[in-house]
Amino acid sequence: MKTSTVAELLSKDITLQDIEIKGWVRTFRANRFIALNDGSTLHNIQCVVDFENTDEAILKRINTGAAVHIKGELVESQGKGQRVEIQVNTIDILGDSDADEYPIQPKKHSFEFLRENAHLRTRTNTFSAVMRLRSSLSFAVHKYFNDNGFYYMHTPIITGSDAEGAGEMFKVSALDSKNPPLKEDGNVDYTKDFFGKETNLTVSGQLEAETYAMSLGKVYTFGPTFRAENSNTSRHLAEFWMIEPEVAFMDLAGNMDLAEDFMKSVLSYVLEHNQDDLKFLEQRLLDEEKTKPQVERSEMSLIEKLKFVVDNNFKRVSYTEAIDILKNCKPNKKKKFNFIIEEWGADLQSEHERFLVEKHFKCPVILFDYPANIKAFYMRLNEDGKTVRAMDILFPGIGEMVGGSQREERLDVLKEKMKTLDIDEKELWWYLDLRKYGTAVHSGFGLGFERLVMFATGMGNIRDVIPYPRTPQNAEF
Ligand code: 4AD
Ligand code: MG
Repeated sequence: MKTSTVAELLSKDITLQDIEIKGWVRTFRANRFIALNDGSTLHNIQCVVDFENTDEAILKRINTGAAVHIKGELVESQGKGQRVEIQVNTIDILGDSDADEYPIQPKKHSFEFLRENAHLRTRTNTFSAVMRLRSSLSFAVHKYFNDNGFYYMHTPIITGSDAEGAGEMFKVSALDSKNPPLKEDGNVDYTKDFFGKETNLTVSGQLEAETYAMSLGKVYTFGPTFRAENSNTSRHLAEFWMIEPEVAFMDLAGNMDLAEDFMKSVLSYVLEHNQDDLKFLEQRLLDEEKTKPQVERSEMSLIEKLKFVVDNNFKRVSYTEAIDILKNCKPNKKKKFNFIIEEWGADLQSEHERFLVEKHFKCPVILFDYPANIKAFYMRLNEDGKTVRAMDILFPGIGEMVGGSQREERLDVLKEKMKTLDIDEKELWWYLDLRKYGTAVHSGFGLGFERLVMFATGMGNIRDVIPYPRTPQNAEF
C-alpha cells in the first residue's frame, strides 16, 4: 500500500479502499472529524473517526499539531464543502502534540508572533501557501532559463571583491577576533588570514557571471547574496536570493526585453500552477482590507495584478524624463504623496519611485540611462559622457525589483572609471582581462527573488516570504 498525499486524494472522486495517509492534525471536532494537512495542498482532508470503536486513550491524543498515520477508505463525503473524505479504519499517533502548549492554535495569529515561531509557521495556511509559491517561482526561474538556452552557474559565496563598490559587506575571517595578528602600523594583518587576504560574503555574483557569459554566451546565477546594510525596512534583508542572468552580445534594450519576458513568464507559471494558493492569498488581502480600515483598498485583486503584469507592456522611461515628470507633478493636497522634487543628478528616493509607478504610470516601469555618478563602476558610459546604460525595474507596491545594466566593455574607459573611484586594478585583474581578450558588448541584471515573491503573494513584509529572515539584530533560527 502506497501512502497518498492529501492533494492526490482530494483530486479523486471515486471510492478507494485501503488508502494510507500521514500528516498533521489541524483540528479535531466532536471526537469525530479530523482536519488533516500534509503540506501537499492548502486544503485539509476530512478524516472521520469511528469514535465508538476507537480506544479512548487514542482519541485523547488526536490533538492539534499531532502527527498521525491513518489507514482507511476514501469515500464520497456526506458533509458540505468537500467531495471526498476518509473513513478511518486505524489511526496511529506518530508524534503527540500538547494542545495547550502548541503555539499554532486554530485561530488567527499575528505575523509578528509567527515570525517568532518561524519553525512552525508553515503549519498555517498563509505561510504554507507563501512557501509553496516561493518553491514554484523558483522552479519557474530555472525552467525559463533552461528553456531559453542559458547555463546555470554557481558563483562563489566567499569572494575577495566588492562587486557593487558599496562597501556593505560581511567580512569572512578565520582569525582569532580577540587577538588578531597585527601589522607594524597596528592594523590587522590579513595576509595571515585563511585566504591570505581580506574576504567577504558576496554582494552579487555579477562579476563572475560576466566571465562565464564571455565564454558560454548566456548564463545565470541564482543564489544567496549578503548585504550588511543597516536598513530595517519591509523590503531589505541581510541575506536574500538574487537571480542574475548575464548575456554576451546583448545591449541594454535586449536586457530590458529579457527582464520583461522573464518576469512575465515566471508570473504566468504560478498563475497557471498555483491557483489554490493564489486564491487563498487574494482572499487574505481582501479580509485584511475589510478588518483594517487603515489599509488602503487596492483597485485590483492579487490575481488581477499578476495578470495585468503578464498582459501589459512595462513602461520604459529615461531617468531624465522621470525627473521632468517629478518636477512637474503637483503636490497632492491629501498628502498622498509629498516629497522634495529632486534636481537632475540626484538618486531617486523610494517616494519618487512609488509616485512614478503607483500614481503616474500605474504599471511596472523600466527606468534607464541614469547619471553615471549614482551608479556602480562597471556600467557602460553613454556617448553624452554623463549617463550610463543602467536600468532599474520598479513595481507597484514593491519599488525596485530589478537593477541591471549594459557593462563597460572598453578597457581604457573602465580603467579610467576605476581610477576615479579608487578601485584597485590589482584586485580586479581578472575582470579587466575580459576587456583585453575578446571584449564585447554584454549585459545583465539582478532580480531580488524575495521582492518577486512579495509581489506574487501580496505579502507586505519581506520577512514573511523567506523561511528564516536575516535582518539587523535578528538571526534567531
Ligand atoms: O540593484 P542591485 O544592487 O544590483 C546588483 O547587485 C547588480 N550586480 C545586479 C546585476 O546587474 N547582475 O541589486 C539587484 C536587486 C535589487 O533590484 C533588489 O531587488 C535586490 O537585488 N536587493 C535586495 N533584496 C532584498 N534585500 C536587500 N538588502 C537587497 N538589496 C538588493
Ligand atoms: Mg539597485
